Amino acid sequence: MKLLVCGGAGFIGSNFVRLRLEESDDEIIVLDKLTYAGRRENLADLEGNSRYLGLVHGAIEDPAAVAEAAKGVDAIVNFAAETHVDRSIAEPDAFVVTNGQGTYTLLERAREDGLRYVQVSTDEVYGSIEEGSFTEESPLQPSSPYSATKTGADLLVESYFHTFDLPTSIARGSNNYGPFQYPEKLIPLMILNAMHGDSLPIYGDGMQVRNWLFVEDFGRGIGHVLDHGKYGEVYNCGGPDECPNIDVVKRIIELTGTSEDLIDYVTDRPGHDRRYSLASTKLEGLGWKARTHFAEGLEQTVAWYRDNAAWWESIRSGDYREYYAKQYGRELT
Ligand code: NAD
Ligand code: TYD
Repeated sequence: MKLLVCGGAGFIGSNFVRLRLEESDDEIIVLDKLTYAGRRENLADLEGNSRYLGLVHGAIEDPAAVAEAAKGVDAIVNFAAETHVDRSIAEPDAFVVTNGQGTYTLLERAREDGLRYVQVSTDEVYGSIEEGSFTEESPLQPSSPYSATKTGADLLVESYFHTFDLPTSIARGSNNYGPFQYPEKLIPLMILNAMHGDSLPIYGDGMQVRNWLFVEDFGRGIGHVLDHGKYGEVYNCGGPDECPNIDVVKRIIELTGTSEDLIDYVTDRPGHDRRYSLASTKLEGLGWKARTHFAEGLEQTVAWYRDNAAWWESIRSGDYREYYAKQYGRELT
């Protein structure tokens, strides 16, 4: 199969492309706008692989760029999105354009060319849950501009199945972590700050719970949905473990050999979801299962950041410094 992977230069997309080239015979072309989160370096090791057909620099909301990149493909897998909740609170515009208009543009292309379409989505479309876990039947109650635009995109995808018989499926993942994650997200931010002796900003009381999923497990889950998912269906893909933020940070402190004195409780995020939890029984019924527990995956992730300074140095010395100062009201060392 020939795949167009949109957003393949980002965190989960690049891990998916690498894994899929290893574990299938697919050919892959990537379309990516290369925003702050999309980086050519994330795919650099794949140059020279004859089934990696390269990266087209373009936006998913641009019909001409999409038409060009989609020539001759069998399926679109869409990772491309604005993804950070804090940025969606500060500046929602790009979320509406990319997550909304962008998804629409890809769906239109898929309809025109008769392509299989897989949308990569998130547990955040269900909102927060105090107890138990969300199933695919749970109501959609997004709380942030990020999750609201992802929800809109999911509904649009479903409408193309119902209205136009487009062979769509949706894979909803829980919080991912692993190599190549941009350090605006909790885990890489805390790892790099701990390594540098910068303070560790915990929102509110730090007792918010996330359902952690190692990025390779999500990659295999999305591949499973592409290969075996029924058209018109949604599949939850949740991690095997849940953990409150404060415990995640304390474990990172241990793994990096720093001190709990770095912990800094800061003002909470507005509209902060308390807990996410996904039931993945439906996808497990198709034969997928998460392989990596949080303890092991976190250790691997800390080791990756320790061993890949060249990857994060260019980020930490660039625009990220300004983002950080604005978001946290302090400078990085
Ligand atoms: P990311 O922010 O690391 O990467 C997003 C990628 O999309 C980047 O390469 C960026 O350049 C590209 N992009 C952004 N706007 C674009 C546009 N208009 N046109 C083309 N490319 C564009 O995100 P991620 O964490 O890898 O997330 C990928 C997908 O998985 C997203 O759809 C996200 O909603 C979903 N998801 C993420 C998580 C998580 O924990 N990170 C969990 C579940 C689902
Ligand atoms: P994040 O990685 O932004 O993912 P999401 O909000 O999509 O779940 O945040 C994970 C959790 O960590 C969330 O409860 C917010 C919290 N958090 C902090 O406490 N401090 C931080 O600096 C960041 C970025 C997140």
